[in-house]
Amino acid sequence: MTFATTSEPIAISTQSRGPGVIAIDGPAASGKSTVGFVVAGLLNYLFFDTGAMYRVVTWACLDRGVDLHNADTVGHLAETIDIAILPSGDAQDGRHLTVLVDDQDVTWAVRAPEVDQKVSTVAAIPRVRAALSQHQRQVGGQYAQGHAGMNGIVMVGRDIGTVVLPDAPLKIYLDAPVVERAQRRFLELEKRGKSPSFAQVLADMQERDRIDSQRAIAPLRPAPDAHIISTAGLGVQEIVERIVALANVNSEQ
Ligand code: DC
Repeated sequence: MTFATTSEPIAISTQSRGPGVIAIDGPAASGKSTVGFVVAGLLNYLFFDTGAMYRVVTWACLDRGVDLHNADTVGHLAETIDIAILPSGDAQDGRHLTVLVDDQDVTWAVRAPEVDQKVSTVAAIPRVRAALSQHQRQVGGQYAQGHAGMNGIVMVGRDIGTVVLPDAPLKIYLDAPVVERAQRRFLELEKRGKSPSFAQVLADMQERDRIDSQRAIAPLRPAPDAHIISTAGLGVQEIVERIVALANVNSEQ
């Protein structure tokens, strides 16, 4: 997928609220966030990226010197930490949402390469998954019929359509070959002033794919009723248009 900026705006009729909940799953750098953010904006839905929550727990462990392999301590931290995932508001730094921990803005800190490398280990801990999924389910339920002036929610992750919101009326699974996804992540990191080695980014992504899809609980896989979209070679606008059409919301170009 070429992440070109959308050239022509897509006009959406506001007559229909659409499905209320759109679950978007897929592996790292498959385009979930970029696409989900645009779809959410078009439909006036809340954009909620659940990966940010797993990243927060990982970041907090690294920050506080917690042993990531101690499942009880990490689980306890996930159950007690105060995480807020908020709309990006007026921020002009390219964020899709704002992530707060105890009122500290950690939106970019949770995207550091050290977090990338460890987050799959943390996300495989059952107690962590139970705590975060429960929170995500509550938010999904709250927004499903519209809430706080929004028509619904676009929730993005690995297990939204399979475990967190299995009754979501619209489920999308985005996929792309790992080399293409690693290339995207490499360019993203360069843009943020980091100088990663491509080989390292690719190796890290392959390892995350392995852990995310082979873990015992809520492994990454498409829900049986998900629409699978391969994003290789597609632009953001094209994917967004497909999802909006599936949402059955009247869209006019
Ligand atoms: O989408 P992301 O790269 O920000 O996700 C970070 C990690 O969190 C990823 O390695 C898998 C995990 N994750 C998960 O297990 N379940 C989710 N619903 C979302 C993310």
